[in-house]
Amino acid sequence: MTSVITVALPDQPYNVVISAGGLGRVGEWLQGNPTALVKPGQRLLVVANPGVFKIYGEALVRSLAQAGYLVESCLLPAGERYKTLKSIQKIYDAALAFRLERQSAMVALGGGVIGDMTGFAAATWLRGVGLVQVPTSLLAMVDAAIGGKTGVNHPQGKNLIGAFYQPRLVMIDPLVLKTLPVREFRAGMAEVIKYGVIWDQPLFEALEAPTRLDQYRYLNDQLRHTILTHACQAKAEVVSQDEKEAGLRAILNYGHTIGHAIENLMHYRGINHGEAVALGMVAAGHIASRLGFWSNTEEQRQRALIEKVGLPTCLPTVLDARAVLAALQGDKKVEAGLLRFIMPRGLGSAQITTAIDQQMIRAALEVIGST
Ligand code: NAD
Ligand code: GLY
Repeated sequence: MTSVITVALPDQPYNVVISAGGLGRVGEWLQGNPTALVKPGQRLLVVANPGVFKIYGEALVRSLAQAGYLVESCLLPAGERYKTLKSIQKIYDAALAFRLERQSAMVALGGGVIGDMTGFAAATWLRGVGLVQVPTSLLAMVDAAIGGKTGVNHPQGKNLIGAFYQPRLVMIDPLVLKTLPVREFRAGMAEVIKYGVIWDQPLFEALEAPTRLDQYRYLNDQLRHTILTHACQAKAEVVSQDEKEAGLRAILNYGHTIGHAIENLMHYRGINHGEAVALGMVAAGHIASRLGFWSNTEEQRQRALIEKVGLPTCLPTVLDARAVLAALQGDKKVEAGLLRFIMPRGLGSAQITTAIDQQMIRAALEVIGST
């Protein structure tokens, strides 16, 4: 079954295609898609990690070559700690060597790290070349590949360097999730739970139904379809309404205020993005129930789902709540000394708030305090 979701941006709408086996048909979709704007005969630079490229590179490159594109690849080491300007320089070097032109495109094959970096390189190389996202992690499929946030980390903070730059096509092939490590699957599920909480109550309820949800193999076809289509639809709807995060889009950062602080304190080692977001959601969920934004029962339902997926609900033992509180002061979301938090308003809805005082945050951090 193939589903197509459109990110309805006025200047440049584009499609998110969800199709089993789609990896081997990216060339066809690119060639036949008027919004993709990359014509056969053009050069395509595929950016990936060696591990992912070894499994999926050949099928993708073959599909692009068969559709008449000239293809070269650029491989970068895997991991958040390589999400740096140094890696961007490597993509530029490959683009220069391959003589990538304005009408050419970069193709990100991988998780969110590769997607964010390829997007930033595409935004800046020759002041902008085409961009195609072929996400291979669940997190990248439901979140990072859609919506045009691209960038790299600065030593002082995550995603501090970046640009809004939309892809021309996003191709999601659910079959690649079979090789995704279990821990990465769980990380992606954190963002799926996020959409259920902030936007889509039926998605949340669909996630509550099965007994086990901690591994990809427990998803039946129907649930897998629900997860991907609902989550991508949620992201597409929010981005279509607020591309540059003037307001609404900030709700996608639910769980990220505390999550980013944790990732940064851990130097992006020993914890991944989804795990950090899960902790952030537990903490934010607690603040929300204390403020009466949702009920204790809703807070507990969110916690139960996070636990069912196998995500952490306690800080890594090397971190303590005070360090997280101190790190929060340096966050991009600090406005006039007040921390900007996204709060759920019941299940399926959320709002931005800045009125969260230190005392409340400290209490929430105690809830996720290490055991
Ligand atoms: P990741 O990109 O580090 O990928 C996780 C690991 O899984 C990597 O080692 C990767 O090589 C491997 N992998 C990916 N797909 C695989 C597959 N199918 N089979 C086997 N191995 C596979 O991590 P991630 O969780 O995908 O992305 C996290 C990043 O995404 C963070 O940097 C975060 O800031 C960013 N992000 C961006 C946005 C956005 O809107 N741009 C949204 C959310 C997250
Ligand atoms: N992942 C947050 C956003 O895309 O805005």
